[in-house]
Amino acid sequence: MTKRNLTLHQGDSREHIRSLPDASVDFILTDPPYNLNLYSTGNISLAWRKDINNDLAAWDGEPFDPAEWRPEFLRVLKPTGNLFAFTSYNLLGQWHAAYDPVFDTFQYLVWHKTNPVPKIYRAGFLNSCELVVCMWNKGHTWNFKSQKEMHNFIESPICMGAERLQDPKHPTQKPLRVLRHLIEIASNPGDLIYDPFMGVGSTGVAALELGRGFVGAEIDPAYFAAAERRLEAVQVRMV
Ligand SMILES: C[S@@+](CC[C@H](N)C(=O)[O-])C[C@H]1O[C@@H](n2cnc3c(N)ncnc32)[C@H](O)[C@@H]1O
Repeated sequence: MTKRNLTLHQGDSREHIRSLPDASVDFILTDPPYNLNLYSTGNISLAWRKDINNDLAAWDGEPFDPAEWRPEFLRVLKPTGNLFAFTSYNLLGQWHAAYDPVFDTFQYLVWHKTNPVPKIYRAGFLNSCELVVCMWNKGHTWNFKSQKEMHNFIESPICMGAERLQDPKHPTQKPLRVLRHLIEIASNPGDLIYDPFMGVGSTGVAALELGRGFVGAEIDPAYFAAAERRLEAVQVRMV
């Protein structure tokens, strides 16, 4: 589906990304699989509350290798562009090994979730932080907010309330508050943002609301349909 400022693709983004022109994207903001299924000990059933879901989703079992995406990410990103990706502790080293040598700067931001899943057995820390790896070259777009707002740390609850889709429910739907913050810093109105792992389209919603264009891909038909509905609703609202 292609409309003004919005192109959506249902299918494997490994193929879709090849259709994007060289140096056409201002900001890659994405949330690829975390490969955390490898460490899961399964769901925990409890009598007094709903099950604790430890198995993220089938899509997270597919190996994701950041290095495999490097040639195409570098090809489609403008020299002044930024590349931000949500990731988890187990993939941080792979992101750094593959991308630090080809970008001037490699940093990370921590998203602290104020309402994480409790640790029922009180063993270990709660998983209350998620990482965003952030990369760019000299001359990149950068809208520095205040010193206070530019810590590499943001606090926000996980996506909930009216914002959280119920059908389909995506286990890792990202809160718009976090996405808006990143988009305001790393792009300008009119820029094109690309998310090859868009899930239910949260990056796209924040992008359109902030006057950016959006290209997104999602392999799962139900998530894709939900993203399409959400993004069409934003477009109608913005007319
Ligand atoms: C971490 S989730 C993204 C969630 C998203 N940020 C949101 O707020 O809804 C990763 C998504 O990537 C999708 N995915 C995995 N491999 C893919 C591929 N090769 N091409 C397109 N989508 C893929 C999964 O179906 C999943 O919805």
